[in-house]
Amino acid sequence: MHYEEDSNDSDNPTIDDVVNARLRRRQFLMASAGAIAAAGLGPLPFAGCAADGTRRSELDSVGVPALEFEPVSKSVADALVVPPGYTARVLIAVGDPLFAGVGSYRDDGDNSDYDRRCGDWHDGMEYFGLSANGRPASSAGDRALLAINNEWVSQEFLHPDGASAAPRPASEVDTEIAAMGVTVVEISKDEQGHFAYVQDSPFNRRITTLTPVELAGPLRGHPKLRTLFSPDGVQTRGTVNNCGTGKTPWGTLLTGEENWAEFFARDAEDSDRRTESENYALARYGRRPGSSQTYQWDSAAGNADRHRRWNTSVTGDSSDGSDDYRHEINGQGYMTEIDPYDPDSTVRKRTALGRFAHEGAAFSLPRSGEPLAVYMGDDAQGEYIFKFVSDAHWDPADAEAGNRMATGAKYLDSGRLYAARFSEDGTGEWLLLNLDNPAVAGYDRYPFADDGDALLHARIAADAAGATRMDRPEWSTVNPVNGDVYITLTNNSGRRLSDGDGVLGVDSANPRAYEDRRQDSTVQRGNVNGHILRMAEDGADATGFRWDIYLFGAESDADASLINLSDLTADQDFSSPDGIGFGSGTDICWIRTDDAAMTDRSNAMVLAAAPGRLGDGESLELDHGETQVVTHLGARPQANELKRFLVGPVDQEITGLAETPDGRVLFVNFQHPGSGTPADSAGRPERYTSHWPGNMGYGPGGDLARPRSATVMITRDDGGKIGG
Ligand code: FEO
Ligand code: CA
Ligand code: CA
Ligand code: CA
Repeated sequence: MHYEEDSNDSDNPTIDDVVNARLRRRQFLMASAGAIAAAGLGPLPFAGCAADGTRRSELDSVGVPALEFEPVSKSVADALVVPPGYTARVLIAVGDPLFAGVGSYRDDGDNSDYDRRCGDWHDGMEYFGLSANGRPASSAGDRALLAINNEWVSQEFLHPDGASAAPRPASEVDTEIAAMGVTVVEISKDEQGHFAYVQDSPFNRRITTLTPVELAGPLRGHPKLRTLFSPDGVQTRGTVNNCGTGKTPWGTLLTGEENWAEFFARDAEDSDRRTESENYALARYGRRPGSSQTYQWDSAAGNADRHRRWNTSVTGDSSDGSDDYRHEINGQGYMTEIDPYDPDSTVRKRTALGRFAHEGAAFSLPRSGEPLAVYMGDDAQGEYIFKFVSDAHWDPADAEAGNRMATGAKYLDSGRLYAARFSEDGTGEWLLLNLDNPAVAGYDRYPFADDGDALLHARIAADAAGATRMDRPEWSTVNPVNGDVYITLTNNSGRRLSDGDGVLGVDSANPRAYEDRRQDSTVQRGNVNGHILRMAEDGADATGFRWDIYLFGAESDADASLINLSDLTADQDFSSPDGIGFGSGTDICWIRTDDAAMTDRSNAMVLAAAPGRLGDGESLELDHGETQVVTHLGARPQANELKRFLVGPVDQEITGLAETPDGRVLFVNFQHPGSGTPADSAGRPERYTSHWPGNMGYGPGGDLARPRSATVMITRDDGGKIGG
């Protein structure tokens, strides 16, 4: 989801002050002004060797997949385009029935029981193999469970005539509440060898924004989690705005709660009933007094408890919040763990991983006897990159653990949370986010009550620690071959060349701010197209790291000295990288886009990448005129190292992606096709900008169908491995 919130008004130095000062001192040799703006500054200090001293040439030949398909051209058609020799089929779409006795999806918006249907806005997705007898089997390729995040709802398509204005009918609100969360669905191969989803499988499950969930880890029972629903602060209801995902080494799902803050209203006068620090914390997470609930669920007729809870104002008389929902907002914003193999298992929020706008969760490569690290982004303008390090040390036997949620508790309920600070020399530091860090303990803008409070308000703890403000960190992934960590920085319309009053200037790790013109002549500013950061460290619990920028998003004809720094060709250019992950069967790094900036040239897409390793490129100085910035660029991709694999239909973004273990089936999620559909003053759609996937023959409605978020499976016509 494209999200522009910027509630980070900390005066944390972006590193550019430091960069600029040092640059002035160092007097880089530059060509005359206006000539070569980006000068190669030679190899990075750590290029050429892996962390363990292995020479690069020995590693380069290991595990880098060959990309041999014909790249797909950019497309603005309302169609799903794949390379020649490949076929895409829809597997499951919003509204499809999961259980017996649930009617087929209707194209008129008149579907009920969304807690028994596939949810909306397919986002992150993970594949969980099943053996023939229904046991967890990570290598199984014929039968599996897909766990699919359902991030938001398309109100305009979910109801017969769009959404009613507030006060909203309870039945409409209940439909929306049930269409978000997570869908777990069994899939298995049919006689033709194609996957189909299994209606009424005993594994099928819907977790919605109303499902009871346990709080786990340091914030379980914390005073700031007490509510009318859970006076002792150990439970809440639902997982909200589920975006990126992670798969744990013990075979469970981590689902990231992203823009949950928008789901909580605050009364205009609520600030009068709060302390200064409470008001500060709520504003820092984007909830100022008078904020409304994004779908106005709190307005539902009847004032039922399940609707009232979405207003997080102080309404009761208690001193501890046990008689109202003043703390309800504190129950969202976590990495939440779900065991897809056990439909009766309790869902648990792993609060030790901090509370922010969570995206993906990428685990370090597990090493016996060492801690696990989880790398995570906080997606809003100027927010941070985080790392959690487990107290427990990895026991390889836990990969096959019988009690997966107990294993989750072992590794994820106790550990340390850090935020990243980047330096211009290509190194960085992990800053500890608890009261052992004097900068956190002594922060003057917010007095942390305890270590739990620093997790609950991890953004503020990262402000205090002095972390680097980034260009909207989205998903993360770890290269299974060498352990390099990748994090997408999707874009930042607020980034400018210099720091100013409330303005974020460029720095070494976020080095671009420019103007881009759309074909209709509108001008876009900031880091318009985003970039993909890469990090490496010596062990999961390292407190320092090295970094470079694997790729800069850009249009292929953009200025190569300041914008198209990675030299992307027309077969490679992209904008707003979002989902990213290495395939479990192919080792391909799959990059998915959520683009608003380049949609005049192409709908959102998937690219296949075969990256090298951190330090395989060069350092650059970008001369922005008044401002110069040194950055570190990975090797520019060759034609067979980065290729566009797929382009989706109109007004969608491409989100979750998973592979079968043999790499022969690719599952891809398409979110909110037709989201640009205009509505009249009553909220009724006037015409659909997309009719996908009805127009590729899936479900009712054909070429005139309402658009639907969906999961697609892609195979090679010769049965071979995808991308090879
Ligand atoms: Fe749900 Fe940051 O995308
Ligand atoms: Ca996004
Ligand atoms: Ca453009
Ligand atoms: Ca996303």
